[in-house]
Parts: sequence; C-alpha cells; structure tokens
Amino acid sequence: MRPVHAPFPITRLRRTRQNAAIRDLVAETTLSVGDLIWPVFVREGEAIEEPVPSMPGVSRRSVDKIVDVAKEAADLGIPAICIFPYTALEERTEDCAGAWDPENHANRAIRAIKAAVPELLVMTDVALDTYNINGHDGFVVDGEIVNDQTNEALVKMALAQADAGADIIGPSDMMDGRIGAIRQALEGAGHQNVMILSYAAKYASAFYGPFRDAVGASAALTGDKKTYQINPANSDEAIRCVARDLEEGADMVMVKPGMPYLDMCRRVKDAFGAPTYAYQVSGEYAMIMAAAQNGWIDEDRAMMESLMAFKRAGCDGVLSYFAPRVARALSG
Ligand code: PBG
Repeated sequence: MRPVHAPFPITRLRRTRQNAAIRDLVAETTLSVGDLIWPVFVREGEAIEEPVPSMPGVSRRSVDKIVDVAKEAADLGIPAICIFPYTALEERTEDCAGAWDPENHANRAIRAIKAAVPELLVMTDVALDTYNINGHDGFVVDGEIVNDQTNEALVKMALAQADAGADIIGPSDMMDGRIGAIRQALEGAGHQNVMILSYAAKYASAFYGPFRDAVGASAALTGDKKTYQINPANSDEAIRCVARDLEEGADMVMVKPGMPYLDMCRRVKDAFGAPTYAYQVSGEYAMIMAAAQNGWIDEDRAMMESLMAFKRAGCDGVLSYFAPRVARALSG
C-alpha cells in the first residue's frame, strides 16, 4: 500500500515540463497554418489601403489590393480568406439590392481572387448589414426584422457569391431557415460543391464594435440585434441552432465570438463532431492590440495563446485577423 504521506510527491507533473523537447512531445494540441481563415475588408476604388482605426494593423482594401492579400495568404499557406465588403452610408439602401448585385465589390473581389489564386478558398458573408441603410442583417419592416422576406434576399446574395466563384458561403444573419433555403438554391443552381459554413452559434455581442466600423455599419445601425442573435446567457439554445443548421445542410459550423464562448466551442464539437470554427472577432482582436500597444501584454504571445485556446477547446480552425501574423510566426 502507498503511504498516505509519502516523503516525496508520487506524481511529479513538472517532470514533463522541464524542457522544450519534452514539452513538445507531450503537447496535446497543435496550431498550424492550415487552421486559419483570414477575414479581410474590401472597398470600392483602386490602389486603396485604408487603416481601420479601431483595428490596428487591419485595413480596408480596394479589389486590386485584395488580390495582393490573397496572394500573400496563399504564399503563407493560409487555406482560406473571408471577404467582407465596406459600404459607405450614402451607398446603403433600404432594399439592400447591392447585396446580390453580381458586380458589387465583394463579388468582383471573389472573381479577381479566384482568377489570380485559384487554390485559395474564398469564403463570403451572407447578411444584409453591409448594404442596409439601417445596418441590420435583415429587412426592417415597421421596426421589426422580418425573417422570411430576408431569407429570399439572402438566397439571392448567396447565389451571386457562388456564381462569382465563392467556395464557402458564410451566412451570418441568424434568420431562421436560411441554411435550408440557401442549400436548396445552391443545389438547384448547380452549385452542389459550394460549401456552407454557418454562423450557427452567433451571439448578440458587444465584441463586434470595431467590425461595424470597418464595414461602415456603425453609423447606420439603429437599435441592437437581440431579436435575432443569441442571448449571451444561453448555451442550450446555441446547441439547438447548430443542430438545426446541420440538419438544413450546413457543412461546417461556427461559434462567434470566440474567446468568451470557448465553452460553446467544446460543447458544439463534442455534441456534433462536425467541422467547428471559432471567430476571434474584431473586439477580441482590438482588446489584445490595445493592451499590447500600451505595453500591458506581450502581443505575439497573447496572439498565439489565444489561437491555441480555440484548438484546445475543440475547434478545427479559427477566423482571425491575426492570421497572416500567426502564419509567419509558425513558419519562422
Ligand atoms: C454581420 C457580421 C458581423 C460580424 C461578422 N459578420 C457583425 C454583426 O453581426 O453585427 C462580426 C465580425 C467581427 O466582429 O469581427 N452579419
């Protein structure tokens, strides 16, 4: 029998932490460049690269510059980029027709990227907020965000993106039934191989602030998104959203934001075993950058640790504005 009060610790967990080699050998989780999706902002114009003030190190770029970014992504070994259009207040409309215009700057960017770097996966965002006069993800009728009418528009938007060559459609709007509607429409239009990464567990979060600046939605947005995005108090409800989206034909699912919702990453992965992604959103990025710029945390270490945490929590990959820097750090 083992003595209860042994003179030495029976288990020394520090033994396998004593040097880098053994730490590597016992590492349970790895972060690799193949785990990254790089979100980028596209705008009208030419040769434009305009910094987003609330997201240090992130810019809005014209289509030609986005192609440069796509080449950079491919050179770094990043498998996918995700396109978000910036639309100025004066270009926004109530009918959101720009959203499904085959010639809008997002669709032109998709075409230009697929022509220049065909092997790079291009993901899109499906929601009306980047074209809507009031900044909402759906149509607003008498002060309400209407569900089914919005789905019809989202289908048109997704089809235009698929026609432009998008590989992965990312519905981020949180309307009910949109995944099924988009899946059916894609199949009917011969886009059987176009994938859907559903923003399934998407919360009504304060952490989207800098993104709304980046896409020009902050000035437009009236009210909040609590009637369609999930209440941060809820966990089971998010699981029901994920189950529903998978049943309707989503190939992959997302938890968003990331770091405050690591519990959801783990629950979603364990419950469904589907390809699961976290979105390290703009506010999470801005927090790390702001603290680092003040000298309060080490930027590179915080960046790498935050991404590893998503992998540990069960995610297969991460959408992160740090993607190119992480890729560089991993390769060198
Ligand atoms: C829009 C959308 C948002 C984000 C991605 N798609 C903002 C929102 O829902 O208001 C946020 C991403 C980020 O904060 O980085 N449907």
